[in-house]
Amino acid sequence: MPENMKQAVVYQIYPKSFSSHRQQATGDLLGVVDRLDYLAWLGVDYLWLTPFYCSPQKDNGYDVSDYYRIDPAYGSMADFELLLAEARRRGIGIMLDIVVNHTSTEHAWFRQALKGRDNFYRDFYIWRDQPNNWQSKFGGSAWAFEPESGQYYLHLFDQTQADLNWENPQLRQAVFEMMRFWADKGVAGFRLDVINLISKDPAFSEDDSDGRHFYTDGPRVHEYLQQMHREVFAGRELLTVGEMSSTSLAHCIDYSHPERRELSMTFNFHHLKVDYPQGQKWQLGRFDFVGLKRILSDWQQGMHAGGGWNALFWCNHDQPRVVSRFGDEGQYRQASAKMLATALHGLQGTPYLYQGEEIAMANPAFQHIEELRDVESLNAYQQLLASGLDRTQAMAVIRQKSRDNSRTPMQWDNSRFAGFSQTQPWLRLADDAGHINVAAALADPDSVLHHYRRLIALRKQYPVLADGDYRCLTPEHPSLWVYTRRSAAEMLLVISHFGAEAQSYRLPEGVIPEGWQAELLLSNYPAPPAGWQWQLRPWHSLLYRFYPVTPS
Ligand code: GLC
Repeated sequence: MPENMKQAVVYQIYPKSFSSHRQQATGDLLGVVDRLDYLAWLGVDYLWLTPFYCSPQKDNGYDVSDYYRIDPAYGSMADFELLLAEARRRGIGIMLDIVVNHTSTEHAWFRQALKGRDNFYRDFYIWRDQPNNWQSKFGGSAWAFEPESGQYYLHLFDQTQADLNWENPQLRQAVFEMMRFWADKGVAGFRLDVINLISKDPAFSEDDSDGRHFYTDGPRVHEYLQQMHREVFAGRELLTVGEMSSTSLAHCIDYSHPERRELSMTFNFHHLKVDYPQGQKWQLGRFDFVGLKRILSDWQQGMHAGGGWNALFWCNHDQPRVVSRFGDEGQYRQASAKMLATALHGLQGTPYLYQGEEIAMANPAFQHIEELRDVESLNAYQQLLASGLDRTQAMAVIRQKSRDNSRTPMQWDNSRFAGFSQTQPWLRLADDAGHINVAAALADPDSVLHHYRRLIALRKQYPVLADGDYRCLTPEHPSLWVYTRRSAAEMLLVISHFGAEAQSYRLPEGVIPEGWQAELLLSNYPAPPAGWQWQLRPWHSLLYRFYPVTPS
């Protein structure tokens, strides 16, 4: 694991929507090279690029048909090598997205597997004579019938994403060999797609749920990751982060504890389900703020105590924009985006920021289903109609929940296609690109972008951000999240007001160690009067640092 991991910040790039060097409808790798100076200026240490391998793009590259080749839509291997070298020259490492829970059904392994039950590659996938009741995460049964052989194959995602059979040692060797190929090229890390789903219950048991209990954090997953560590990570300085679907704190401690030699850190999604009424994603709902604090607090304390390490994030390519979700995308867009940034970056873990988050990009307010591209959203829309909603009601849900909310093209400037391309992009641009864009944010020293840059720099300056323990002072408060981070030598106090109404707050006695002095490191309003009581303004955010007065 790299030495800088605890001070590092990772920037996530969705290449299809980032920047088109060739001025086409989709972004490309040279488009990323074009923007490296900007990313270096921002101060990020790693770029995680979502998949750009050959793919039929049924799930935007998460359906890989060749792990060793770059999809020509994104460029060539020479472009990738240039990106690696140019990023390295700026002190930035490139992280690849490894999608090995499944391949595309167009992958050569699957094509071979279709040739018959005794083909060598048949057992690279999961076949059964009869399906069970497991459901695909994109809707419908998780089993598809293959008429030639009369068997069903498992696909936890789209029907064109066939699950790999990790029980097969030869499959595992093929995966590790592929990962070594990229590691040998000089990538700095891997993000492992839905990696806690790779070990399925061998009995394929059922219950009355969608089946997730039988393949989530499954029986052999830790063993497989330890083998991956031995075969791929050992002896290399790689940052590895696992995307963990519906996981538990205990498992994430195990996945990320350095002594267990599995991964460097984990993503989990519990804090992003606080706006799923009764656990249902495709329903409108307000978010549960007290629940959000409780979940984040439990993970902060649990991972700290257990010796695990969190990947911190509000946004990614599967989530709506955070300023629309937990902030105010209207009048207080700038203030609330800064508040959200500080609230997250003050925590223990490695922060990830997703393209556009640093300029407070918001959900684009999709109006018509024809504007959307995402397979999950298109399926969900049909299911909402089938459940009795009319088109307007179904569209209201899609507008709030769709993954396409975060996939609209990156907004670079106020030109016709926002500097993303000179052609109509594959997914429509948000209407606000004329004023919400990187050029405008760079020019304004008070922008959300400059605020993020300061946060990234603070992480490198103050060790307490990496080491300090966490304590929440306002667990039940309906709009305030106040927490401390404390080490022997320093303490941080982060005050975040999730709301626009006037709010006062007084710090309880005894929080500040006797004789320590304070400095205000960052705020989204001019510094308040000195003292430990505040009249908070809409979406107010304050970050203080305390330290012992050194005897002269
Ligand atoms: C992960 C990816 C998502 C993809 C899914 C299946 O959740 O982030 O975009 O659809 O895995 O690969």
